[in-house]
Amino acid sequence: MAACTSDPPGLPGTFLFLARTELEDPRYLVALDEVFSFRPIWIAPDRNMWCDVLTARRPGSARPHMHARPAFAYTLSGRWGYAERDWTAAPGDFVCEPAGMRHTLVAHAGDAPLRVLFVVQGPLVWLDDDGNPDGYFDVHQYVARCAAHFERVGLGEARVRALMR
Ligand SMILES: [Fe+2]
Repeated sequence: MAACTSDPPGLPGTFLFLARTELEDPRYLVALDEVFSFRPIWIAPDRNMWCDVLTARRPGSARPHMHARPAFAYTLSGRWGYAERDWTAAPGDFVCEPAGMRHTLVAHAGDAPLRVLFVVQGPLVWLDDDGNPDGYFDVHQYVARCAAHFERVGLGEARVRALMR
């Protein structure tokens, strides 16, 4: 089990010490879509922000979207990129997704599982094939999705609240 220690949960400005992120344990991986899942590791509801480790079950693409504010990504393992860009991110590579620019995340095949540390400030806006807004995703939806998943797999939604600062 992951350990959240030192300071009580739910209090902005207190330390979060996540001793182990349990990336090998599928119960902690929340499905984003048919390809991608994420392991939530820090959530700030009052700032509409979250941090997670993105993984992929197989090579493939996510829904196109754009962000209201920049998002940051650091590659831990695996290979990934964007349908709109010709470069591939590998371990050690850093990416900043600028605000207001459409992008489509792509998980590439590789020897190692995809693991990318993301820091996101919501909301993000899903885009349809014509580039028009098609819904949004903010920290409240993020929390609801995590809580529903953690409840379903028996971890309990308190484990999501423990990540909030
Ligand atoms: Fe993005």
